[in-house]
Amino acid sequence: MNISNRIGAWVAILALAGAGAAGGALADEGAAPHEFHEIMEDLGDQMVGITEGITHEDWIRVAEHAEAIANHPRPPMSERVRIMAFAGTEVAQFKKYDKEVHEAASSLADTAAGGDGSAVISAFGRLQNGCLDCHAAFRSAYREHFHSAKD
Ligand code: HEC
Repeated sequence: MNISNRIGAWVAILALAGAGAAGGALADEGAAPHEFHEIMEDLGDQMVGITEGITHEDWIRVAEHAEAIANHPRPPMSERVRIMAFAGTEVAQFKKYDKEVHEAASSLADTAAGGDGSAVISAFGRLQNGCLDCHAAFRSAYREHFHSAKD
């Protein structure tokens, strides 16, 4: 079994064990995943950089921040396992939102390289919707699951 199959099997077992958010979920008593939170904070900072870039029509700056989002690091395996357990039966949806954000960020970087301001703003809107979709679907359940009270 290769590593990703093994992880897949593990996630499936955790989901079957009823640990998933969708399945009505035992809360995870451990501290909320720290690296994941740091990555999110970083994404927020990159978005600020993008809006500043747009304001100054500095398309290189926009492209750099968009690239940073497209290539954002993954949290460590130990956190990913816990997050997948949280997502439970909705893990595919969680991953789909992540993928959409990576794609929207790459496409924003490409668009910025073209220097058409209005196209950049549309591409930025798509990226923002990507963030919003996942937050709307998962953020409050995530906080409940991990008892993370951060605002
Ligand atoms: C696949 C799901 C997902 C995607 C996509 C996603 N987020 Fe998040 N985000 C979360 C979850 C879950 C939390 C709650 C984490 C916590 O409380 O520690 C969160 C928390 C945050 C936070 C922490 C502060 C707060 O108010 O909760 C910021 C900032 C943030 N996200 C920014 C972004 C930005 C910007 C994007 C898009 C570029 C993005 N996120 C895309 C799931 C996602």
